[in-house]
Amino acid sequence: MRVTVIGSGYVGLVTGACLSDLGFKVVCMDKDDDKIRALQDGEVPIFEPGLKELLARNRADGRIRFTSDASEAIDHGDILFIAVGTPPSEDGSADLGHVLSVAATIGRHLKGFKLVVNKSTVPVGTADKVRAALSHELVNRGMASDLFDVVSNPEFLKEGAAIADFMHPDRIVVGLDEGPHHARSQRMMGDLYASFNRHHARTVWMDVRSAELTKYAANAMLAARISFMNEMANLADVLGADVDHIRRGIGADTRIGHSFLYAGCGYGGSCFPKDTQALVSTAKAHGHTMEVVSATELVNERQKTMLVERLVQRMGDDLNGRKIAVWGLAFKPNTDDMREATSRVVIRELLKRGAQVSAYDPVAGHEAMKALRLDFEGEENGLEGFELVGTDMQALEGADALMVLTEWKNFHNPDFAAMKELMRYPLILDGRNLYNPEALRELGMAYQGVGRRNDVVLSFDPVLSATPILKTPVASALMHA
Ligand SMILES: NC(=O)c1ccc[n+]([C@@H]2O[C@H](COP(=O)([O-])OP(=O)(O)OC[C@H]3O[C@@H](n4cnc5c(N)ncnc54)[C@H](O)[C@@H]3O)[C@@H](O)[C@H]2O)c1
Repeated sequence: MRVTVIGSGYVGLVTGACLSDLGFKVVCMDKDDDKIRALQDGEVPIFEPGLKELLARNRADGRIRFTSDASEAIDHGDILFIAVGTPPSEDGSADLGHVLSVAATIGRHLKGFKLVVNKSTVPVGTADKVRAALSHELVNRGMASDLFDVVSNPEFLKEGAAIADFMHPDRIVVGLDEGPHHARSQRMMGDLYASFNRHHARTVWMDVRSAELTKYAANAMLAARISFMNEMANLADVLGADVDHIRRGIGADTRIGHSFLYAGCGYGGSCFPKDTQALVSTAKAHGHTMEVVSATELVNERQKTMLVERLVQRMGDDLNGRKIAVWGLAFKPNTDDMREATSRVVIRELLKRGAQVSAYDPVAGHEAMKALRLDFEGEENGLEGFELVGTDMQALEGADALMVLTEWKNFHNPDFAAMKELMRYPLILDGRNLYNPEALRELGMAYQGVGRRNDVVLSFDPVLSATPILKTPVASALMHA
């Protein structure tokens, strides 16, 4: 069985690389000629640990190749994956333009039976639209309109650990509908993923609509856990409790578990923000409201500006003459993906108030500059005051505060003494709760985490003691009780 993957981004490349490693002959296709040329030259346009090596090995062994020729790609595969982007439209709904354009392209080139597998994250009902677009083209060509089947196979990989996730899936969701090709499609999908089902069955078979909705349900649930913990952290701040203790205390309950319970300065990325919005939008289109998912989004939007608010509480709204260091720009570690990254919101808020921003990211610098230039396009001197520097320590020189926005491993154990030397004020606003507030206090550094008994820790402030710290009434009362 041969495989074609249409769309060679994060999901398409990982899918292609992993399936070729399992022995399938794979063609990865993309409409972006530059991307395909780079891939043909052995370059990998995204940062994903292990991907470059996996692609190189399978390319050398002749199991994977890249093309921008749709006809060649569609001829190649028995299975045609659609793995193109589904970005948010203006109204928050998923933009299906790329998916439907691929469906039409397949219809224009199909010669015999193909199984079309939708891996893009798409709203319920998209498989029907893909079928309609494809049939339309086939009928135009005077061919049988049912020369294909469409199945749903949503992807659950995490950027940064994508290869491990693909190769060791918790589950594989496959949505199939009744129809003339049902048995053949089920057999093909079973054969495709047989390696993952040897030890025990990991494939969860269902109908197409349920499969499409399962992906949104998974992302909405994970996003809700994060927003729930962020809300809890904000309350912990008011009450003088530590959300890290709460995280451990509830995570130990096997009904709850430890994953996705980290409070912080908001989630970003290519999936949670757009998928929660799309889910709310799908529901709305059917006269239904999604209260929990809407609240999840709202809490997250607020959380992205939380650190800037804390800074303003301490330094005032006018940040002219202040230099703020930022560690971490990518939306999470081990990726250079800047989609919906908290750093983009934070940098805008800081520059708006006149601060000078000196930022460092071990990997995402290049992508960050691209994203920021787009964000500030048309705004004269909008990015003035922002600089990207080559080391974490360089960012700290003369800084009035450090904001940690991405939990890259190399930020976990920095040289705090050297940091203190470099900074004008040794204040750390820790958006990922990496550091131990008590240990920093002993080192004479001011610390602000997310729900980390900040009022207690901030009460000791070696440099800014003259600056009044705005405390919530409840926390002040607790402190002075
Ligand atoms: N990135 C993730 O972590 C992740 C995880 C699970 C699911 N998903 C979903 O998978 C889908 C793809 O996401 P991604 O992050 O890989 O996107 P991406 O933007 O990285 O890649 C999409 C690729 O599709 C190409 N493309 C667009 N239209 C095309 C066309 N008509 N023909 C050929 N190529 C075309 C683009 O040039 C681009 O290279 C989305 O629906 C996303 O929600 C993403």
